[in-house]
Amino acid sequence: MKININGNIVGPEEATISVFDRGFLFGDSIYEVTLTYDGVLYKIDEHLDRLWESASRLDMPISISRKQLTYQMLKTLKALNETRAYIRVVITRGEGEIGLDPSLAVKNNLVIITKKLPENPTWWYDSGVEMIVASVLRNPKESMDPAIKSGNYLNNVLAYSQAKKQGAFDAIMLNADGMVTEGTTNNIWIVKDGKLKTPPLAAGLLSGITRKIVLELAFDNKIPAAEENFTPEELKDADECFLTSSTKELVPITKIDGISIGSGRPGELTKRLHQIYRQHVKDYINRQRGVQDEILGDKS
Ligand SMILES: Cc1ncc(COP(=O)(O)O)c(C=O)c1O
Repeated sequence: MKININGNIVGPEEATISVFDRGFLFGDSIYEVTLTYDGVLYKIDEHLDRLWESASRLDMPISISRKQLTYQMLKTLKALNETRAYIRVVITRGEGEIGLDPSLAVKNNLVIITKKLPENPTWWYDSGVEMIVASVLRNPKESMDPAIKSGNYLNNVLAYSQAKKQGAFDAIMLNADGMVTEGTTNNIWIVKDGKLKTPPLAAGLLSGITRKIVLELAFDNKIPAAEENFTPEELKDADECFLTSSTKELVPITKIDGISIGSGRPGELTKRLHQIYRQHVKDYINRQRGVQDEILGDKS
């Protein structure tokens, strides 16, 4: 592991921040997670766009520029020296006197955690995973909007714990209207009669970067796709179901609350979309390699 704390790269044992940090005290922080493929950082611009969007929604000033942050991320990955790496960028509002008033903190803390990322288990893709529908509801948009990728993930932690207690891979959360929103760290998709569906952002969920790419790839490949609300009953009655996230890509969901989805095996469209997605990753990595080498060479 290599961890960057406000520009200093250290090992995990030296990686510490103040107990007065508002991220620690109140979850007053934002974050992003992505990965590298063959040493190249995946979808950096999209993740930085969402990071800045989260900051703006929380009225949190970010003292580092996008260019400097990109440089720090690449520098940390270079120190890690792994071809497949996990990278988590956390920006907190900073430290100060204990109190809710955001102006008590004057300067962000920046933490970049990088570590070797093992390949995902092949059984996820070959057999599919089992999920539950959590009884814990997703935070309403009007409250702690799930579109903000903040350091406060207790809503998701509660739902995930339910899944673990029932021996499931993960939990799917509903909103107060009883509609499907998302998994605890992934977006949810169904296929019914050849049509792909994922809940709209208005259902109250994180605008996943993988979700957006899959919607675009479906469009490019003339696969009918829509952002549409669906109920847990429609979810369980789907022909196919899968989840998406940056680190997991597309994982088939073959059972929900003990009910087999479709044939109970990963669906054909899910598999096809995953292949299309993997090709998209390859093309992106080939285009980006030179760009990132250049950023690392340019220390300004
Ligand atoms: C709540 C939630 N939904 C969806 C996702 C998937 O987002 P992405 O595709 O950008 O990784 C994540 C990723 O961490 C998440 O935390």
